This record gives sequence, structure tokens and C-alpha cells, in this order.
Amino acid sequence: MLQPFTLLVVSHLSALVLAQDQTFAFTDSDVAVSQSSILTHRRGNLQLAIPPGASCFNTLEGTIPTFDAEKCADARANWRDEQWHTDHPISNLWPLWTNDTCVPLGNSPSDSCTRGYYGNYVVLAKSRAHVKATIDFARTRNLRLVIRNTGHDFMGRSTGFGSLILNTHSMKEVVFHKKWTGPGNWKGGAATVGAGVQGREVLTLAHQQSPPLVIVGGECPTVGFAGGFIQGGGHGPFSSIYGMGADQVLSFDVVTSSGAYLTVNSKENPSLFWALRGGGPSTFAAILSVTVKTFPDVPSSSVILRINSTHTTDTEVFWKGFNAFHELSNRYVENGLYAYYELNHLYLNVRPIVGLNMTSDQLNQVVKPLFDKLDAQSIPYDREDNHYPTFFDLYTNLFEDNGAFIQTLVGGRMYSKTDFARNATAINAAQRFATEQGALIVGHIVGPGSGAPIVDNAIHPTWRNTSSFSITFVNLQGNATLAEKATAQNVITNVVGKALRQASPNGAAYVNEGDLEEPNWQTAYWGPNYPRLLSLKKTYDPLGVFYARTTPGTEDWEVIDVGTRLCRKL
Ligand SMILES: Cc1cc2nc3c(=O)[nH]c(=O)nc-3n(C[C@H](O)[C@H](O)[C@H](O)COP(=O)(O)OP(=O)(O)OC[C@H]3O[C@@H](n4cnc5c(N)ncnc54)[C@H](O)[C@@H]3O)c2cc1C
Ligand SMILES: *[C@@H]1O[C@H](CO)[C@@H](O)[C@H](O)[C@H]1NC(C)=O
Ligand SMILES: *[C@@H]1O[C@H](CO)[C@@H](O)[C@H](O)[C@H]1NC(C)=O
Ligand SMILES: *[C@@H]1O[C@H](CO)[C@@H](O)[C@H](O)[C@H]1NC(C)=O
Ligand SMILES: *[C@@H]1O[C@H](CO)[C@@H](O)[C@H](O)[C@H]1NC(C)=O
Ligand SMILES: *[C@@H]1O[C@H](CO)[C@@H](O)[C@H](O)[C@H]1NC(C)=O
Ligand SMILES: *[C@@H]1O[C@H](CO)[C@@H](O)[C@H](O)[C@H]1NC(C)=O
Repeated sequence: MLQPFTLLVVSHLSALVLAQDQTFAFTDSDVAVSQSSILTHRRGNLQLAIPPGASCFNTLEGTIPTFDAEKCADARANWRDEQWHTDHPISNLWPLWTNDTCVPLGNSPSDSCTRGYYGNYVVLAKSRAHVKATIDFARTRNLRLVIRNTGHDFMGRSTGFGSLILNTHSMKEVVFHKKWTGPGNWKGGAATVGAGVQGREVLTLAHQQSPPLVIVGGECPTVGFAGGFIQGGGHGPFSSIYGMGADQVLSFDVVTSSGAYLTVNSKENPSLFWALRGGGPSTFAAILSVTVKTFPDVPSSSVILRINSTHTTDTEVFWKGFNAFHELSNRYVENGLYAYYELNHLYLNVRPIVGLNMTSDQLNQVVKPLFDKLDAQSIPYDREDNHYPTFFDLYTNLFEDNGAFIQTLVGGRMYSKTDFARNATAINAAQRFATEQGALIVGHIVGPGSGAPIVDNAIHPTWRNTSSFSITFVNLQGNATLAEKATAQNVITNVVGKALRQASPNGAAYVNEGDLEEPNWQTAYWGPNYPRLLSLKKTYDPLGVFYARTTPGTEDWEVIDVGTRLCRKL
């Protein structure tokens, strides 16, 4: 039997407005970031959830007037811009998770704009009291709650049909501590980062400290920091020397599913502390802020390697080139390197390989066997070397925002050092096979267990034996039928995913950049940590107030009626 959440409808809005008067204490001068032109669409920081393209349509759902020529022009001009979408109250970067609804490209205002899988109402939380009031309201009325900072989630977990959205994007405070004196056996510096802060923002503020600092953030400048990134694990350019994002955490401030404010660290609530570091986004608590270690910024070097159809159209030559690069993954991470690359048919763009605290000569020593092999095999390529006074300079020059509004399904695999040592050929053959099925690969050379101290937290232990992590993308048309979507999903899971799994029997999968249909996802995402996580989920969120697909405890839930209603299995 299934018990659905109550759908959030207008009668509930009046209840929330009431709750707002009593506990939110919003006033009209405390108006939300997004100045909706239709005053009736909002009450203080509580708003009707209006899809980001609605301004190009006369109405939402045929009843709510939404057309606004100026906003429509703005939406169209920025539709592929990540930062624009992350700043919108409810937008999601991956349109498949909104049912591709209300897209403002080439439409006429009289076309229909519906909510699809967007939520119904959104609270633009500015304080911890707003977060608590929203959680209490959702829990006591059995509403589906979705927490959102950036809408980055590849797996659609920051949007949800019929939901009340808790938007944390305004919680931008960052405080630096010169010398940490709290729990965690750490005497260096630290930073307390609010739930709404993005990677680029925290790195920029860290750079402005004297002396300049860095934190372990992600590759993409617009990814959030305290939310999905840390709770899912979080890998990035510093991971091969300092470990995962989750390994850096000294303390959290959270609101629990029962509405309690807790400080969570190695002294207070240590079990929850363990779970929040890698146990899954939106699963155990809502994060208000996270305190992480900071490190001194360092001079850094980079190498860019390109092999594409301008260099060779010989497929075998191309793959020899890729193999030469990838088979050295263990060597790179054991020397502290990180790399980000994109791989497709006759297209390899390794941009960049990062050598932290290295001169160009030092970095060249590590990558020399790669270039020696390319030269020995007469494989054509382009190489570009750079040196920067700080990592921050390298980052701002070489890491870019990705595009928004890409129609894609996602999967991925962590390749272990053990599997590389046993059979790198098999791993490379699987990568080639994936691209032959039409998949684009976004790869990361990253080794969070190759030099960094091992921290006891919830991330999959296989991260400690990883040297390369690939995301696979299979693209679709926005108008794809359900049957076409099912075919693409089958390719991701049972064709491409299967090949990657077979090539890396000692590998694992990553909950932030993985497949919603990953077989045995509990083990694939958490390995031996899963039973403890499931038990902690039952302790800290017995009612299932927090929900994000393929996270601990969600085997008890099911989305029915083609991606719409979320139900608890009875
Ligand atoms: C282009 C791109 C590049 C990426 N690069 C990297 C990378 O280099 N390294 C890496 O590890 N990952 C990377 N990711 C994946 C990223 O870590 C996840 O998408 C992550 O979930 C984003 O977190 P967010 O909070 O910004 O996103 P959102 O979509 O806002 O939220 C993601 C999930 O976290 C939950 N959540 C958000 N805030 C909170 C909160 N305050 N409390 C509780 N739950 C919360 C949401 O409910 C949702 O389930 C990348 C993703 C993209 C799209
Ligand atoms: C999702 O899109 C399909 C195809 O356009 C449509 O039939 C269906 O009603 C949509 N679902 C929702 C909830 O909007
Ligand atoms: C292929 O490599 C060349 C030379 O480095 C580069 O100029 C070009 O942008 C690359 N092509 C693509 C599609 O990236
Ligand atoms: C950078 O390398 C130098 C030696 O080359 C070392 O003294 C210093 O501690 C390193 N810095 C960091 C932050 O690791
Ligand atoms: C990790 O990888 C190395 C190969 O580099 C291997 O020797 C080692 O046994 C692995 N450790 C675990 C715990 O699997
Ligand atoms: C490595 O994998 C390839 C491709 O799957 C296979 O043909 C080969 O026999 C394997 N080699 C070893 C030593 O296991
Ligand atoms: C979707 O659009 C593409 C390009 O506009 C078209 O070729 C295709 O037939 C359409 N598919 C469906 C199912 O309508």
C-alpha cells in the first residue's frame, strides 16, 4: 500500500500564511529577492513557485497571470547561464527533472505553461527561524519538502512535484576563524559557511584573506558548498592532497526533522556528525552552516592536453592517446595531482591537470611518462603549460561555469586504484565503449585517499582507493516520449553503466553524480556504511520529512503517477 503526501494546494497556502503571521514574522519590507510583479504571488518571503520561464507565457496553469516582457527577455537571454538559474527561487539546471515544462524558447505567450515537476510554494529563507518554521510546517501538515540552494543536483533532488520548497540561497554569510579552537583536533584556520554560499563565492572570500586561503570545494564555480556537495562527499582540485569536502568539516549547525536546532561535531551529536559528512543530501538534517578547515593558498601549475579531430581522425590513434593519459591515474594522484577532462568520440580535452604547490618543472616530472609515451607512439596532441602565483588564479583562469538547460540522464563510476593496477586496459575499453554508445564522459583524476589523512565519516570507503571518477551523460530531446526516456535510461544503467561496473569490480558510485537506477544503490553509494546510515536515518528523521532519491531510507518511498506524487510504502 502507498500513502501519498498531501498535495500542497491553495487551502494549504492560507494555513502557511497563518503560520507565517505567527512564527515567520515576515513583513512586507522584508520582501524576497525576486520582486514578483504580481503581489498576490507572495507574502513576505513566502511565494507561489513560479517556473523561471513563466514570464514568457500569459498564464501559469491557465489561471495565474505571469507575462512580463522585460523579465521574459531576461529569461531568454540567460536561459543557458548557470548562475542565472541558481539565483532563481526554484529553477533546476536539468530540465528533465521539471518535465521540460514552461520553456521560454521560441514560444508564443498564449502557449501553455504548467508547473510540471516544480514545487507549488517556496520559502526564501533568510534566517534559521525561517528554516525551522518551514520544516515544522511541512512536518505537521504532511507536505513534501524540498531543500534547494542552487538547483544543481544532477539527479533532480532539488525540485519535486507538489512540494513546498525551502530555498536556502539567501543564507550567504561566511566567517573566517584565524585559529580554530573548537572540537576536531585542528589548530589551523577555519571558515563557517552559510547554506546559500556557492563554491566561487567562498573561494573568492578565502582569497581575500591575508594571507590568502583555500578551502576544498568542487570543480564547478556555481555548485553550492554546505548542502549537497558536503553531504554527498564532495571531491575537488584539492582532494588528492587534503581529501574530500566532507573530510574537512569541523562542525555543523542544523535544524533537525523535528525542528530542533543542533550543533553537530565530534563532541556534540557525534553520530549525526558522522552521517552528515557524506551520508546523503537532504537526508539527516537541514544544514544552516558548516565550519571547515582552511589552508594557505599555494603557487600552482597546470598542463592542458588536447587530442581531437583537428589532430587525428584515426580512431585507434585517438584511443591510444586517451589510454596513455588515463592508465597513469594512480601515478597522478599518488603525486597529489587532480585533473578534469571531457571525453567523447575523437575529443579529449584535459583542462586542466593541476599541480598544487608545484613549479612547472615539478609538474612536468609527474606527467613526463604520459608525454613520453604519446611521443614514442607518434600520437599528435596539443600541450599548454602555465604557472600561477596562487591556486585561485589558476582556478579563475581554467575552471568555467558549465551550461544550463542540458537534456541529459546521468550515471558514473569511481575507478579504484586496485582495478587500475590489475587491468587499466579494461577500464579504458569500458570508457571507449561508453562513448560508442553515445555517452559523453566528464572525468576527474582524483585521489582522496592518496596522501590525505583518512577521516572516519560516511563517504564510501572506496573513495580512499579511487584515482579516477567518471560521470556519463546520455542526451535526449526535450520532447522525448516516456518510451524514449526509458530507452536512454536503459543505456545509462544497463549498457554503459554495466560496462563500467564490470571493468571496475572494486569500484563504486557517487551519490551526487550517479545513476538514479544504479543497481543495489545502497551498496554502490555507501558500501559497508549503509546499515549504520539507515539506522541513523530512522533515528533522526523517523517520519521522512527530508527526501532525496537514492539516499538512506528512501527504499521505503516511491514516486508514482509518472514522476508526480511521492508516497510512503506501508
Ligand atoms: C556542473 C556541475 C559540476 C559539479 N562538480 C562537482 C565537483 O567538482 N565535485 C563534486 O563533488 N560534485 C560536483 N557536482 C555535483 C554536486 O556536488 C551536486 O550536484 C550537489 O548536490 C550540489 O549541491 P547544491 O547544494 O549546490 O545543489 P542543490 O541542487 O541545491 O541541492 C542538492 C541536494 O542537496 C540538498 N540540499 C541543498 N542544501 C541543503 C541544506 N542546506 N541542507 C540539507 N540538504 C540540502 C538538496 O535537497 C538536494 O537534495 C557538480 C554538479 C554540476 C551540475
Ligand atoms: C509531463 O509531460 C508530459 C508530456 O508533455 C505530459 O503529458 C504530462 O502531463 C506532464 N506531467 C506533468 C505533471 O505536468
Ligand atoms: C581541438 O584542439 C584544437 C587544438 O588544441 C583546439 O584549438 C580546438 O578548440 C579543439 N576542438 C574542440 C572541439 O575543442
Ligand atoms: C609547499 O611546498 C614547500 C616546499 O616546496 C613546503 O615548504 C610548503 O610547506 C608547502 N606548502 C603547503 C601548503 O603544503
Ligand atoms: C588500494 O589500492 C592499492 C593499489 O594502488 C592497493 O595496493 C591497495 O591494496 C588498495 N587498498 C584497499 C584497501 O583496497
Ligand atoms: C583486461 O581486460 C581486458 C578487457 O576486458 C581483457 O581482454 C584482458 O584479458 C584483461 N587482462 C587481464 C590481465 O585480466
Ligand atoms: C522532437 O523534436 C525533434 C526536433 O525538433 C524532432 O525531430 C522529433 O521528431 C521530436 N520528437 C517527438 C517525440 O515529438
